[in-house]
Amino acid sequence: MKLIVINGPNLNLLGKREPDIYGNQDFDSYFKTLQSKYKDHSLEYFQSNHEGQLIDKLHAVGFDCDGILINAGAFTHTSLALADAVAAIPAQVVEVHISNVHQRESVRHFSYLSPVANGIVVGFGLKGYELAILSLIDG
Ligand code: DQA
Repeated sequence: MKLIVINGPNLNLLGKREPDIYGNQDFDSYFKTLQSKYKDHSLEYFQSNHEGQLIDKLHAVGFDCDGILINAGAFTHTSLALADAVAAIPAQVVEVHISNVHQRESVRHFSYLSPVANGIVVGFGLKGYELAILSLIDG
């Protein structure tokens, strides 16, 4: 399958950013282990801190890949435009959050993306990306 991970704002700082919440591992090293574990599949990675670039990427890949794992970071809670982009594309989309957003501030409990995502993985740390891959390749 052709899969892509799209990470939003501040997720470039994984490993350095609030390690008590997001852990100590940087995403690049985690992603390399995912790629080697799922080498029968094409697995790409894109990260941006900019809402428009995330929307452009969804448009660019959403019509010819099979699945998208999206962690939109704080845009999850604010961006109707990102939700519209997810709704516009035929690819399967899994919303991923490293932390359990429902145990955190109430502003993080609402997601614009959840109603338009095929599924949601929340609160399993970086392993959530792997769980999302498994849901796509098994499903
Ligand atoms: C996050 C949760 C969001 O509330 C937060 O803004 C993030 C990361 C997560 O992966 O747990 O940047 O999406």
